[in-house]
Amino acid sequence: MDKKIAKNRIEKLKQEIDYHRRQYHVYDRESISVSALDSLKMELFRLENEFPEFISADSPTQRVGGEALAKFQKVTHRRPMISLYDAFSEEDMRDWEKRNINYLAERGESLSSLYYCELKLDGLAANLRYEKGIFVQGATRGDGQIGEDITLNLRTIESLPLRLFKPAEKELVALGLKEKDIKNLFYLLAEGVIEVRGETIMSKQTLAALNKQYALEGKPLLANTRNGAAGSLRQLDPQIAAERHLEFYAYDLILGDYERGEIVLSRAAADKLVELLGFKRVRDNKLCHGLAEVFVFQRYWEKNKDKLPFFIDGVVVKYDDLSLWPRLGTVGKAPRYMVAYKFSAEQATTKLIDVVWQVGRTGVLTPTAILEPVKVGGVTIGRSTLHNLDEIERLGLRLGDTVIVERAGDVIPKVVAALPNLRTGKEKVIQAPVHCPRCGAEISRLGDDVAYRCLNKNCYAVALRRLGHFVAKGALDIEGLGPKIVEQLVNEGLLEDVADIFALRREDLIGLNGFAEKKAEKLVAAIKSRQEVALSRFLFALGISHIGEESAQTIAVYLSKFLSSPIGRPQELLRVAKKCRLDDWSALADIGPVVAASLFNFWHSQETAALFTKFEKSGLSLLLPLPASGALAGKTFVLTGSLNSLTRQEAKDKIKAKGGKTQESVSRLVDYLVVGEAPGSKLREAEKLGVKILTETEFLKLIQ
Ligand code: IVH
Repeated sequence: MDKKIAKNRIEKLKQEIDYHRRQYHVYDRESISVSALDSLKMELFRLENEFPEFISADSPTQRVGGEALAKFQKVTHRRPMISLYDAFSEEDMRDWEKRNINYLAERGESLSSLYYCELKLDGLAANLRYEKGIFVQGATRGDGQIGEDITLNLRTIESLPLRLFKPAEKELVALGLKEKDIKNLFYLLAEGVIEVRGETIMSKQTLAALNKQYALEGKPLLANTRNGAAGSLRQLDPQIAAERHLEFYAYDLILGDYERGEIVLSRAAADKLVELLGFKRVRDNKLCHGLAEVFVFQRYWEKNKDKLPFFIDGVVVKYDDLSLWPRLGTVGKAPRYMVAYKFSAEQATTKLIDVVWQVGRTGVLTPTAILEPVKVGGVTIGRSTLHNLDEIERLGLRLGDTVIVERAGDVIPKVVAALPNLRTGKEKVIQAPVHCPRCGAEISRLGDDVAYRCLNKNCYAVALRRLGHFVAKGALDIEGLGPKIVEQLVNEGLLEDVADIFALRREDLIGLNGFAEKKAEKLVAAIKSRQEVALSRFLFALGISHIGEESAQTIAVYLSKFLSSPIGRPQELLRVAKKCRLDDWSALADIGPVVAASLFNFWHSQETAALFTKFEKSGLSLLLPLPASGALAGKTFVLTGSLNSLTRQEAKDKIKAKGGKTQESVSRLVDYLVVGEAPGSKLREAEKLGVKILTETEFLKLIQ
């Protein structure tokens, strides 16, 4: 081929290949198939081989090539690569803004509140130098003044242009650039120096794919995307960087010198300009009017960061007016102009207070760590599952240890490590229980199963039924604690017995599947509202065999004679009830020998004792029934049909509140039958027996 034709063809091929590179790596558009692009690259490669005098630094064939380096050269940054100040709360952000307002006010200047918010990518910062539009040097941040020359590694990154693209004039006008600035930019592209700074990262997808491959090859795995990116850029052999498919996202552009304010543009426009020059940029960056909008942006990304293809650890908040950068100056090493508003730490250290064992549906015992409450990932954590005894052994946990807890994204918080160097010697070894902590049955570990199991098949079902009964209507009637939620909380290890309900805290619930902050708070409030509960309801809720609502009421009236009025404490109730002999119980109305035995056994069981210790601790108070001096004292009511102004439960409560009693079936001993709409057979029965019949209006008058 003729030399001139070859030169021409090489130039055309370079441009064509770069065009498709930009489409693919900057705009995520596949304008040509990978194989077609490869074929263009192959042609270029052959031509360059034939005419090596036409190989240039901006050729796509030059992304990887040459020997590994013996060591990195040092590079002095033209403008120091500063660091950023961190803010961790809205308060920190307000302080930052206030300080800036004051700083400028002292100089007779004012401050705009237009912010450009950017995602803070977690990788390795790099400075790219383009001379006459060609990539000539890339460097790490180093100490901020002097970095290392990692040009060869950076060249392997496809989303990094080897030659800057020249934007069309009208695109620049659209960005708000003045004619003189456009001219200046074109000059810098053709003759001058342009520097671009940004973050080199590895996507989560690449990390996963590489680790899968490394695992097959028996190579050590990459810990995270940050190490994946930083580690390979610091390797002397560019082949390693090429293999890791890194990406470069630009976040700063040095056109001349901001300090001299050569090219005037807003930060938002600068962000768009890097894209026109051929770089990938973060499309989710956003202009925010005032800090309130900044907070919304930061909160949104804290919650949704997992949806991004790369890791971010916060947002960087900058003034949109770039002229503020030099005007605001620096404090220490960081500029006042911008701040890193970080997400809450995903790891924190705390104390392991206890390990409790929960029993699951299949009888498997799962240990749960009880932790000194600690804030991590934006929420307070007080407990976390430890899965099984093997996990406890793997982590080498002891009771009393200082541990690291992690809450990454929406993942359930977990203990990831113990810090044995911080031990005092008082820590205790954690052992599996010998008996089921719920039903007391035997426990075994089957074969080489890692799990311990309770051998009582009914253990889980009985617990669920007990809990469900305790919170149901007629019992404690706790809103928002239906059977599904009860089961969820049992499975999460939060509920083992009914007394655990009162120990539920907001921070135990937040983060569980389906529990946002509001729902958690509502449930805790509903539980709290039942901390003072009528003794009769409480007795019924306990689910003592054969004790229904009516007999619970009889028992409540009986026991309340021995309790301090008007409120009894759980331990006091237990003490009094334990004193009752079988005969005392069976002497009560409607209580036969079987029910009396059930009562006697209940009050004397160890389980009950343990339960009441917990009730006492939870601050439960029992409202004693009014002495039989209420307006309806000694009167027995039966209800039939539905009432208009009250639910049946409300009607029953009203009757009880006035000293009356209710029961389900009509007998000669019943004083009143209250008849609502669509009454049942009770009405006929009452008429037959001569029981007094009340309409709803008459009933309401009576209970007034
Ligand atoms: S501007 C070199 N903007 O965060 C300082 N930095 O904690 C440039 N980073 O090492 C500051 N995303 O590499 C800026 N949108 C962004 C950024 C960002 C990530 C990194 C940066 C720096 C670190 C500071």
